[in-house]
Amino acid sequence: MYYPEELIEEIRIQNDIVDVISTYVQLNKKGNTYFGLCPFHNEKTPSFSVSSDKQMYYCFGCGAGGNVYTFIMEYENYSFIEAVKHLADRVHITLPTVKMSDEAKQKMDFKHQLIEINKVAARYFYYQLKSDKGKTVNEYLIKRGISEEIQKKFGLGYSNIYRNDLYKYLSERYSKKVISESGLVIQEKNTPGDFYDRFWNRLMFPIFDVHNRVIGFGGRVLGNFTPKYLNSPETKLFDKRRNLYGLNLARTSREDYIIIVEGYMDVISLYQSGITNVVASLGTAFTVEQGALLKRYTDNVIISYDSDGAGKKATHRAIPILKSAGLSVRVLRIEKYKDPDEFIKNEGKEAFNNLIEKAISGVMFEVEELEIKYNLNDPDSRTKFHNEVADKLLVIESELERDNYLEAIAKKYNTKKTLLEKLVIEKGKNKGIVTSRQNVVITNKEKTKNSEDGIILAQMSILTLVANSYDIYLAVRKHLDTKEFLDELYRKVAKEVYKAYEDNRKVECAVIINKFMELEEQNKVARIFNKKISFENKLQLERIINDSIKLLKGAYIDTKSRTINNTNDLQKLILAKRELQELHISLKDG
Ligand code: UTP
Ligand code: MN
Repeated sequence: MYYPEELIEEIRIQNDIVDVISTYVQLNKKGNTYFGLCPFHNEKTPSFSVSSDKQMYYCFGCGAGGNVYTFIMEYENYSFIEAVKHLADRVHITLPTVKMSDEAKQKMDFKHQLIEINKVAARYFYYQLKSDKGKTVNEYLIKRGISEEIQKKFGLGYSNIYRNDLYKYLSERYSKKVISESGLVIQEKNTPGDFYDRFWNRLMFPIFDVHNRVIGFGGRVLGNFTPKYLNSPETKLFDKRRNLYGLNLARTSREDYIIIVEGYMDVISLYQSGITNVVASLGTAFTVEQGALLKRYTDNVIISYDSDGAGKKATHRAIPILKSAGLSVRVLRIEKYKDPDEFIKNEGKEAFNNLIEKAISGVMFEVEELEIKYNLNDPDSRTKFHNEVADKLLVIESELERDNYLEAIAKKYNTKKTLLEKLVIEKGKNKGIVTSRQNVVITNKEKTKNSEDGIILAQMSILTLVANSYDIYLAVRKHLDTKEFLDELYRKVAKEVYKAYEDNRKVECAVIINKFMELEEQNKVARIFNKKISFENKLQLERIINDSIKLLKGAYIDTKSRTINNTNDLQKLILAKRELQELHISLKDG
């Protein structure tokens, strides 16, 4: 680490978390805890808590949490070191100057360097846009009605006409390895080890993650050439399946829904009109991961894809994915215009808000689309329509919801509700399901994922319990070594917790968090300490402890067995596995 641990701890102690957060969030005191509206996701009732005793914050809505450093990193989009500097300044502590050696530079986390290089590139592109070279692009943006202010807000830029000037610029600052893995350059065909820029003569859209860090770019060609957009490839930083353009801004909007559009320009255009709760899936198929990501910030989404065939098809595909993430889905139809961008420019915000109000449910969208396929005045065609409608209704799990749709559809299409209902039940019987969903098949991949989740959960649960109770620690430590925590993060936390007890110290989450420099890591640690484990009696608690420990020890043995190359060790493992079956930890009474 950069600065001595004691110093980092001293700065933390002097910056009372309630004082610091109060300057950003309005807090109300309830007992020893303060509550307010979470600044990291949109909500109307406060689930953001700040504890004065623990010097921690935690949001029960979105799971954001940590100590005072985490908050500053998350809110101000600072790195750990930047947060330390900021808070030291606040309490007038002078930091020693640290000069980074070459070795330290190399050691700096690779991911950190990727984050930095993307930021540097974004600044470079922005600078180009504002310079003389960017004049035509600037005019293009103005012609499209994008103000200077919005250009800045979204960090738009320009990659100029020289084929390797960005590469040269980066070469002076970063190693070849970092540059080549940044996605910003392409390998020269005939001279290995030499590179040229991926983007030239394009309008650049930096893609931010939820922490406002640039993780990739989209570049739009100027004029009608193909490909219209060129995007960064996947890198160690940029996972397309797990990001949504604009979520960094949309998540702090106070609306209780998020609008999903197709393109960069749709997000920007709506934002400029004051509709800020918008994200784009960037023209690719909506993923399960994106669904889960959205669910962290909202319960309701409105799909507002382009009005063409491709947009409708994409809507059909996105609906079940969003629903299975637990989101309530509505669909907005952009009438008469190609996309939300065109609509809002021609019709304005009020008209768009009208469309939002008129947005129909996902099921109704599907039914309306079927209606277009069939001629409802022709009896045969009408029957087919009813059959397909019944198929759609069949997969709705909630009986009440299904009934509501039966009602609405019967009314709209002038059909007897009872007949439609009969059809649904009939179909349900044939398929052997009336209420369950289509996707009951669990693939092998999902199975291993589930058991991985189980191991993560077990590590978290044990740590939560041990950190909160010295007695549980005493019972557990004899049976579970810290090395048996499979994930590095949980192993590190376990070591800290065990050590605190050994040294007769209090287990303090806010102190343990200082050992982690990454925001995500700090959030994870905070989650351990804020997790609620529910059990009704001692027996249930013992079961949770025993099940978790067996799972962890078993998984540890399995990992070990993969690297074994002599029978002696193998026998030891077999023995350990057998002993594991007999393991039982009981807690003292009281
Ligand atoms: P659109 O063609 O609708 O682009 O593609 P747009 O954002 O509305 O741009 P303008 O208004 O024509 O300038 C929607 C999205 O699909 C992705 C981009 O993310 C784009 O924003 N896309 C499109 C690509 O990645 N590559 C392409 O060649 C085209
Ligand atoms: Mn468009």
